[in-house]
Formats: sequence, structure tokens, C-alpha cells
Amino acid sequence: MDTQLLENTARDLVAAGKGILAADESNGTMSNRLESVGVTASSETRRAYRTNLFATEGYQDFISGVILFDETIRQTMSDGRSIPDALSSIGVYPGIKVDTGAKDLANNSGEKITEGLDGLRARCEEYFLMGARFAKWRAVIQIGNNKPSSACISTNAHALARYASICQEQGLVPIIEPEVLMAGNHDAQTCYDVTSEILEATFAECRMQGVHLPGALLKPNMIIAGSSCPNQITREEVANLTVDCLTKHVPHDLPGIVFLSGGQSDEDATAHLNLMNAMDVEHPWELSYSYGRALLANALKTWANDEHEGSQSVFLHRAKMNSLARTGDWNSDLE
Ligand code: G3H
Repeated sequence: MDTQLLENTARDLVAAGKGILAADESNGTMSNRLESVGVTASSETRRAYRTNLFATEGYQDFISGVILFDETIRQTMSDGRSIPDALSSIGVYPGIKVDTGAKDLANNSGEKITEGLDGLRARCEEYFLMGARFAKWRAVIQIGNNKPSSACISTNAHALARYASICQEQGLVPIIEPEVLMAGNHDAQTCYDVTSEILEATFAECRMQGVHLPGALLKPNMIIAGSSCPNQITREEVANLTVDCLTKHVPHDLPGIVFLSGGQSDEDATAHLNLMNAMDVEHPWELSYSYGRALLANALKTWANDEHEGSQSVFLHRAKMNSLARTGDWNSDLE
């Protein structure tokens, strides 16, 4: 394992003022998103939408890396350059989603286990040769009646650590993503408890399997009440509970935490990150973003209206707002 390469890449991905763009929706998810704004989904429309974003002037000031899907890493920009080459040429790290999706967990109705370990070593080797320097694997934890089960927690934690070990062996920084979903009517305390449990289990597996934490990143949910819970909490409470939970359950030798947005509004995702970074305490890790929807939802709608430069401006604005949130310098007037 080239620990120096991994540590350098991980640190670059959470460099000051920068975060990650998650543009790694599977073909099915990306197609649904395109259809929802009236665009016929195809390999070509997925390429056209994404390459327009990747051609945005100046976004590398706010974005350190872009997570791609298997189809995208093999596609080309309009000028014929490969997408990973085009990203690397402006100092943006190409990343790759390597899981193959969340599938039903046997014997545990309604719960998921993320798959993709079979053949992972060979796929990582190929992605590294194509220019990828980091990877993502997302485990999905749903809160509900008697959920999550210990089987769901332990199988997903085990898979996350196996994925991380294989990636590191092949020179890719693993983004370890145990996502506790917002869907449901649970309160924020339940989200806090379940998040604590999956983080403890994941890092216990990482320790057991020898994952080199200074060369890895964590992509967690924030601590938020379920989207249909009547008792929503304030932005300040989200920030305080999230930092408290992470401080207790995330090892301090990890260089960075890059949050997912998970269905929060654009502005909530920015405001929560801003409040965490504005706290009068020094956190042990960089607190950054790896947003998908919170960076791109409006950019997609704008692109669908045939406003390609407009879509780039909308994306650039959101990236800049989140960059300001890295130092606690965002405020709503800037919106
Ligand atoms: O795995 C989740 C994505 O990479 C982040 O997407 O910010 O829309 O939750 P999101």
C-alpha cells in the first residue's frame, strides 16, 4: 500500500475551501432525474449534461474532485478528451463509484446490503489506470420499525471496510459512506443513535481489516430528524448534534469528513456545514462536502431549459457558497 500517495490525495480532496462534487448517479437514477425535467434519457444526454458541468470555468477553485459513474469515466468531453484527463488537467481529481448498488438483505425484509466486492480488485486496478484516484461506496441504513437490525449494521460495516482495504491496495482513497437515510418519521435523537452505531461498527471493522485511516475519508449524513417527523430541529441543533456525534465516534486520524446532502435543500446543506465550521472549536478533521443534489438540483433544471451557460453559473454559485461554508464565511445574503 502506498500510504504516502493515499494520504496526499486524501488531504488534497479536503484542501482549504474545496469539496467534492458527487456526479456518480447510476444510469437508472440519472435517467430518472433527466426524465423528471423533461429530457429523454440516454447515454448521450447523460454525457451532454455532465460534460457541460465539467466544462464550467473556474469551478476547480471550489471543487477538488468529482465522483463519476462507470459509464461517465469512459466518456469524452465535447473536444474529444477523456473525462478523467479533462478533470486532471485542471487539478480536479477523478473519482469513481465502485459499489454496484444496495440490494435486499436476505432474512431482513426492507433492509439493504450494498454489493460490489466481487471483482473489485480488478475494477480498481482498471480505474486507477484510467486516472481515478479515489472511490466511493455507499451503504444505506433505513430507520423504521425495529430497523436497522444488527445484521444490517454489521454486514454493511464489514463490506465498507473490505471495499476500503481493496481500494487502498490499488492506490485509490476510499470514501466510506454509511448513509442513515432521512426518510421516515424518526426524531433527531434516533438518527443520532443509529448514526453512532453504524460509525462505531464501521471503524471497528476498519481497524480489524487494517484500513489506513489517514488515507481515507468519511462521507456521513448529518444528524437530522426524519423528513416526516413533526419535531424538526433548528439548523444550530443539527450542527451541534452532528459535530458531537462525529467527535465521539470518528477516529481523529482521519483527515476529513465530506458530508452527503441526502435530500436537504441546497441552502440547508450549506448553512449546516457553515455553522459547523464557524464553531469556536477546532475539529480534529476537515469538515467539507461531497454533495450531489445540493450542488446540482438547480443546475439540472436550468440545463434542461437549454440554458447551458446558465446551468454552469448555477453550479458555480452553489460550489462557491459551499466553499465559503468551509470556513464559516457563508451567510444567506450571499444567496
Ligand atoms: O451517495 C450519495 C451521493 O454521492 C451524494 O448525493 O448529496 O444527493 O445525497 P446527495
